[in-house]
This record gives sequence, structure tokens and C-alpha cells, in this order.
Amino acid sequence: MYREPVRVHRLGPRDVDEVCERVGARVATAARRCALLEGTLDRDALRAAVESVAPAWVARSRGRIVGHLTATLLDGTGRAWVPPDGTSFDDPAVLGALLEAAAPAWRDAGAHGLSAWAYDDPIEVGAWAACGATLRARRGVRALSTGDAGPAAGLGLRRAGRGDLELALALDRWGDPPGAPAPGDDERRHEVVALLEDPEVDYLVAELDGRAVAQAVVMSLPARRGSRANAVHLSAVAVDPDRRGRGLGTALVGSVLERARSVGYAAAEVNWRTADPRVERFWRGRGFTPTHALVEGVLPA
Ligand SMILES: CC(C)(COP(=O)(O)OP(=O)(O)OC[C@H]1O[C@@H](n2cnc3c(N)ncnc32)[C@H](O)[C@@H]1OP(=O)(O)O)[C@@H](O)C(=O)NCCC(=O)NCCS
Repeated sequence: MYREPVRVHRLGPRDVDEVCERVGARVATAARRCALLEGTLDRDALRAAVESVAPAWVARSRGRIVGHLTATLLDGTGRAWVPPDGTSFDDPAVLGALLEAAAPAWRDAGAHGLSAWAYDDPIEVGAWAACGATLRARRGVRALSTGDAGPAAGLGLRRAGRGDLELALALDRWGDPPGAPAPGDDERRHEVVALLEDPEVDYLVAELDGRAVAQAVVMSLPARRGSRANAVHLSAVAVDPDRRGRGLGTALVGSVLERARSVGYAAAEVNWRTADPRVERFWRGRGFTPTHALVEGVLPA
């Protein structure tokens, strides 16, 4: 239990400087712990973000800020999304007090659940767990270097286009987690079409002997807090279920990373679900170090 009395109130103009200081210190500390994390922040962008968030909460104890919390309420998801620097807390009990204060407003805005990107640190994830949230996914990062395994013999990569829609829909299904609800046909089609048509996205199909055996979606992300600069983002990596465990996923990722390195990317990042320990083992074995953890829960009553 937090020993000092804590008072939570809405963030006001006089709180902004102190909250920015806290976020800056938090980012720098995390970067000291893990070299793959960015340690510096664009202070003007952070200040603009903190000033523009509505609403946000701060927790004070003996006149000092001991925590803050803000979330984005994304239309249609029914969830309050807390970004990597959307919270700070000196103690898990402070996070609990902040969540209790924020929950009624988030509920009024249509949210029933909560998703937060925390640093993948036992104390942080533990604090969220103490508030009822569960680890669902991780974001891992790795640096790219010339010594990495390159493309595998026989495995060809090609960029899929609008004409590959039916193939891409079939390959995308390979990535559905077993036992979890899959997207509906219309939703999947909408998402896959958007990816195939986006000039900033490489929808890659891996072929062996002229047959599609795996896929990966590769994109660069706009600069955002919580991601490394100059990082390529991998998603929707999936291998034909009948051919898993034979090195194809490793070969595909090796090709994709070598491609990214050769056009100037310095790092790669990927988010993976934690439900399947084999998937966790796959990404760690490919050199990705977890930096962030996605925790999810319901809003406190
Ligand atoms: C994760 C995945 C891409 C790995 O591809 P793969 O071709 O099976 O992997 P490889 O044979 O190259 O590598 C095997 C490694 O992956 C792990 N692995 C993950 N899923 C596996 C599976 N279904 N079968 C066998 N090994 C699997 C193994 O433990 C092994 O680890 P090791 O190298 O430390 O021994 C593939 O299993 C898959 O498509 N899974 C479903 C979709 C998914 O969850 N994708 C990740 C989205 S971020």
C-alpha cells in the first residue's frame, strides 16, 4: 500500500511542466535499462501532446505529482488506449487510484475495456496486473547489421499487389491465433485491401518452387513515441500451417531484415501475442528483445 495520502485530480495547465519532466525522466531511465529504447524525446511535441490530451489525471501526494494517466478513446474499439508515455506512477497503488478516477469518464465516453503499452519490466507489468490487467502481447526490437543471416536459398520474396487479393486473404488466415476469435470476412477484406493498396506498405509473399508458403507485412512507421527511430515494422508474419517448424519463418524474417538493412533501416520491431509460447520463442530466437508489453483489462467498477 502507498503510505502517503494521494489526491487525484484532472490535469490542469500548472501540471504540464511537471508531467513532461516525469515522462522525460521515465523515458531516459528506460533507455538506460535497455539500449534498444530511444532515450530522448522531442520536448515540444511531448508538451503539445500533454497539453492537448483531454482528459488526463494527475495524482498528488504532499503537493508533489506522484503519477499521471491519460488515454485515447478510439472510436468503435470500446477501449481506452494508454500509450507508452500515457502514465507514470511512483507505486502500483497510485496507478490504481488514477484508474479509479479515470474510469467513470472513460465509461461515459463509451469504453468498457482498457489497453495499455507499458515498458516490458516486471515492476510495471506487475503494477498493471495488480489493477486487474493481463499481459497480451509484446513489442520486440532488434538492431540490423551486416552479419545477419540473409535470404535463404530457394525462397523468393515478391511484393503482392491489388491483383493478389484472394491469395493475400488466404495467407492472412494463416496468422489467426488458434482458439481466438478471427476477424469477420468483411473486416479482413477491408484490412487486407488497405494494406495491398498502401504505397508505404510492402505486402510480401514468400514462394518456394512457385508456391506461396508464407507472408509478411513490412512498413516504416511515422515517428512515434515508444518506437525506435529508423525502425522497420514487421507484422502479419505467417507460415503455411503444414510447413511450420522447418525453418521457413526464420528464412522469411532473415530475407525481410536483410532487405530492410540494405535500404538503410537501423532496427526492426514487431509486436507478437504472448498466448503461444512458441511464437514468443520464435521472435526471441530471431534476436528480438522485448521492450514493451501490451496489457489489457476491464475498467474498474
Ligand atoms: C511463428 C511462425 C511465423 C514461425 O514460423 P516457422 O516456419 O514455424 O518457424 P521456424 O521453423 O523458422 O522456427 C522454428 C522456431 O519457431 C518456433 N515455433 C513457433 N511456432 C511454431 C510452430 N507452429 N511449429 C514449430 N515451431 C514453431 C519453434 O519453437 C522454433 O524455435 P527455435 O528456433 O528456438 O527452436 C509460424 O509458426 C506461424 O506462422 N505461426 C502463426 C502465426 C503467428 O503467430 N505469427 C506471428 C505473428 S507476429
